[in-house]
Order: sequence, then structure tokens, then C-alpha cells
Amino acid sequence: MTGKTVYLETFGCQMNELDSELVAADLSRLGYTFTLESDRADVVLYNTCSVREQAEQKVWSRIGELAKRKQTQPELVVGVLGCMAERDGIGLLDRMPAVDLLCGPAELDKLPGLLDNAVRTKMALGAEDNADGTSRDREGAGLPLVSARQVALQGDASRRSGTLAAAGDRLEMLDLSRAVSAIEHNAQRSAYVRITRGCNKFCTYCVVPHTRGAEVHRPPEHIIEECQRLADAGVIEITLLGQTVNHYRYEGASAVSIEGVLQPQKGRTYKGSHHRDAFAGEGTTTFADLLYQIHERVPSVQRLRFVTSYPRDFGNDVLEVIRDCPRLCRYLHVPAQSGSDRVLKMMNRGYTVGEYDEFIGRAREHLHQPEIGRPLMISGDIIVGFPTETDEDFAGTIELLERSRYKSCFIFKYSPRPGTVAFDKIADDVPDAVKRQRNNELLAVQTWMSDEVSREQIGRTFGVLVEGVSKKARRAEGLTHGQIRLANAVSLTVGGGSPEQSSTEADACETIQLSGRTDGDQIVLFDAPASEVDQLTGSIVTVRIDSADRLSLFGTLTPA
Ligand code: SAH
Ligand code: SF4
Ligand code: F3S
Repeated sequence: MTGKTVYLETFGCQMNELDSELVAADLSRLGYTFTLESDRADVVLYNTCSVREQAEQKVWSRIGELAKRKQTQPELVVGVLGCMAERDGIGLLDRMPAVDLLCGPAELDKLPGLLDNAVRTKMALGAEDNADGTSRDREGAGLPLVSARQVALQGDASRRSGTLAAAGDRLEMLDLSRAVSAIEHNAQRSAYVRITRGCNKFCTYCVVPHTRGAEVHRPPEHIIEECQRLADAGVIEITLLGQTVNHYRYEGASAVSIEGVLQPQKGRTYKGSHHRDAFAGEGTTTFADLLYQIHERVPSVQRLRFVTSYPRDFGNDVLEVIRDCPRLCRYLHVPAQSGSDRVLKMMNRGYTVGEYDEFIGRAREHLHQPEIGRPLMISGDIIVGFPTETDEDFAGTIELLERSRYKSCFIFKYSPRPGTVAFDKIADDVPDAVKRQRNNELLAVQTWMSDEVSREQIGRTFGVLVEGVSKKARRAEGLTHGQIRLANAVSLTVGGGSPEQSSTEADACETIQLSGRTDGDQIVLFDAPASEVDQLTGSIVTVRIDSADRLSLFGTLTPA
């Protein structure tokens, strides 16, 4: 249905951001246009997250607002995509009559058809529609109201092996047919590429295996082709995505993982390394092989990173390939979740604190090389207040945080999720006040650690991928990036850069503060001539670090 204007808002993880990008490209190809203002849209789509209750609440309140709007704009189409659609399913339709369309994350290839139907149904029923989304015609005809609404969910089929490959093939088309023209148009320099869908881990607190379905690895040739096309469109930084990304393994013609049977082993090596383990047959592509192949075959990608790593089964082959390949980033996101063996066991994480420490130590041994300007940066996730968590368990988590020396760490209060084992079997018995207290305590520890890790970078020199004018400089001038570019042409007087300086005082050199990231994903702020903003944005420059705080490094642009 062409000519319709869509507002698409994304919640949740990078996987969702990528899904939204693919969906937007898919719909654009079909003639839909996009707006950043919800008020101006004919179609409002929310790509949702279900990982914590808070994430869902945001969406509920958005839909509540739209229900009111529908009273005056009954032709408005409202769609809920993603993990919340999958988790809540038809229950969501019952609770929210304003929702016209539901589409789970494993069904997004069907969205154009569903949306087309939803728009046509609206037009056909037109004025007959009630403001609450139900239709008098259908009621009169004795048809179930829900059938007027469009639904695609994987439901129970998600983990049936017979349907896995077929679902993988369908979804594969969505990733493969990615419209890089949009990327070219936006001069986008960074992109996500999915390598694995779903998750087989079933951590007891987590909805993801239920919403995203079983783990399916994409064929390496498809991944490499996608990287190549993105690189041809100007992308220089690619982040590979998977829930347990280091478990990637592609067995010849089969797209389905054999979880638990063939996992990467510590002693293995990657293709391209001089001594290769006989363990991985010729038709097998391991995660290390995949990294190596992308690095070798798509050299114009100057930065290749991956999230999220699972702390178990992390072979030395992966660490070696990162060490040996200069364009592989020294950055790992490896959530520990807890520093207590008892809690880790209840979470079904499958490793002990000792094993986690062993991995962090091994990763640092292989990859932490500050003397050549390549320190290893690690980030983590922690859940506080998991059922039965005692003060002693929590003390273990504080110690883990201190030992791990993360550059940053996401800390979450446990949120019981319907459908998970923890929700069904273990009472949420840690009071919210205790969760809050532990959350704050950990935040304070992490702030201290982040500050220390940042300060260690002072005096070092890094390649920085420039993202554009810093938020601070934008705020100071009350300008958007586009406006700053415009202002550059006239006369721009923005000074500042180091935290002490005022960013509003006039500066004879017309410098402006830019921001970018190191390959370890640390934020760097530095001054550059305002006239060079466009030229520098999207390129990698060399910056010497002069000062630091827990969030950012502050430096000086230096010749490469
Ligand atoms: N696959 C990734 C994590 C995906 S979910 C991994 O295993 O590391 C992102 C983060 O959300 C998790 O790392 C966890 O810290 C947090 N999380 C997941 N479920 C949660 C819940 N029920 N309550 C609180 N935090 C949760
Ligand atoms: Fe959730 Fe665990 Fe899978 Fe991560 S590994 S997505 S936490 S089930
Ligand atoms: Fe949320 Fe689904 Fe991602 S639950 S974290 S959007 S996989």
C-alpha cells in the first residue's frame, strides 16, 4: 500500500535496531515513506522489547496514547512488532484493542503483507470502524473481532526442528535483501550484521529463547556477502550480532546449530592459522574462521566487532584471530550476570565464577597490549536481586566487578518474566528496596572502575572513528548536526573540548568539539577546525589522550 507514512520506534537491543533497519528498508522499497513525528503518521509501528517489565511498560503507555488518538483518527494503523508481540501474543490484542497488527521477530518478512492487509481492511471498513479498533460490520456478521487484525507470531512452532530451516530460509531473505542504498544515502559508516538468530541457552530469567526462537546460524557466504555490500556502500565499521555470538558454527549445508555437541574448544585454531585442529572438518566454519574470513575478504571494513559473547566455550582460536588481525577490535562484551556460583547455577548460566575469571584472564593475556596502543576493553551485564540472592552472594558480585575491571557495565534489577523458569518456579523474594540498594552500590563500584580504566588511557594514542559534533557542542549551541553544518558555512564560534573549558566562548580558530570511538569502544572527545567537520565525520583520525573521566576520554587531534 504505497503513499502511506510510517512512524517506526525501536526499543530494546541491537538486534531490534537491525530488525527495524531491515523492516524500514523493506517497506521503503514498497513505497511507504517514513516520518520522525508520530503525529504525522498513517501507520505507527513499535518494535518492542520484552526483556524486563519496564521495557514493556514504555510501550503500553505509548499504545494508551494512540488509543486516544484513534478516537479522532480511526484510520490510524497501529502495529506492535518484536519480542513483546511474540511474548504476549493474542493477550496483547485483548488488552489493547487499539492494536491492529502483531508481528513477532521471527516473522518480520511477513510484515509488508500484514501491513498491506491492515491498511486495506481499514480503508474497506473505513467509517464503519469504531474508535476502539473493532468493526461493527464484523460484529454484525458474527465474525471474531480478532480476525480483522493482522497477526504473525511463531508461537509454538519456534523450536520445532522441522520448521527451523524453513523459518531460517524465509528470514534469511530479509537480511540478504538488505537495501544498502539507504545506507549509501545516509553516508552511514557503521552497521550491524546478524550472524546468529535466536538462543538455545534458556537462562532461567530470560525471555529471549522464547521470543526469538531456536538458535540458527547464518551461512558464512551470506554474511560475508552482506559485509561486502555494506563496505561497498561506504560502511567501515561492522558489528556482528548474536545472543551468544561466539557460539557461531556453520556445518556445511545445515543452517541449524548442534548446540552442546560441537562447540569451540580451547585448544583449537582458525582457518588461516598454520596449525589447524582436525576437530573442525573442512565443511565447518567456526566463529574464529568467520572472523578471519571477513577480515581477509572485506579489508575495507576497518573495524570488525561482535556482541554478545558468552563466557563459556570461548576458544583460544577466537582470541588468536583477534590478536593476529589488525582490523578486529579489542573489545568484548561478556556478561557475567552474577559473582555467586550458587546464583549462577540457579540462573542456568553453565559456568562458575572461577571459569569466568579464567576467561577474562586468558582474554587479557592474549589481547591486552597497551604498549602498542591496543588495550583490551571489556564490558559486562549484571543482574541484581535474582531470587534468593543473599548479602553474601551480592558481595561476590561486587568482588567480581572489581576484578573484571570493565570499561562499562549494565546493571539490571531482576525482573520476573512470565513464561520463564524463574518466573514459574522461584518466588521473586528480594524486596525492591534491596534490589535498588544493590543496584546503586554496584553502580558506585562501576563508576569507580570506569574512571580508573579511563584514566589509564591518558598519554596513549588511539585511532578514533569520528561520529560527528559532540552532544555537548550541539547542546551548547542549541543546534542539530545539520544546522551546525549550515552554520559552518557562515561563521561558527564554538570553543571548548576539555571539560574545564567553556564551550560557548568565542574562539578565534573556530574549533568545535567532535566525538568518536576507539576500537575498544571508548568515547573520545576532541577539538577540530569547524570547517573540517564534514570531512572528518566517518573517518578514523589519530587522537592523543590528555585527560579522562569515567564516561569519556579527552584528547588532541594529532597527525597519524
Ligand atoms: N544474550 C546476552 C544477553 C541478552 S539480554 C547474554 O547472554 O549475555 C541483555 C541483558 O538483559 C542480559 O545480559 C541480562 O543482564 C539482562 N536481563 C535479561 N533478562 C532479565 C531479567 N529477567 N531481569 C533483569 N535483567 C535481565
Ligand atoms: Fe537470554 Fe541467556 Fe540466551 Fe543471553 S544466553 S539471550 S541471557 S537465555
Ligand atoms: Fe529485548 Fe528481544 Fe532484544 S527481548 S533485548 S528486543 S532480543
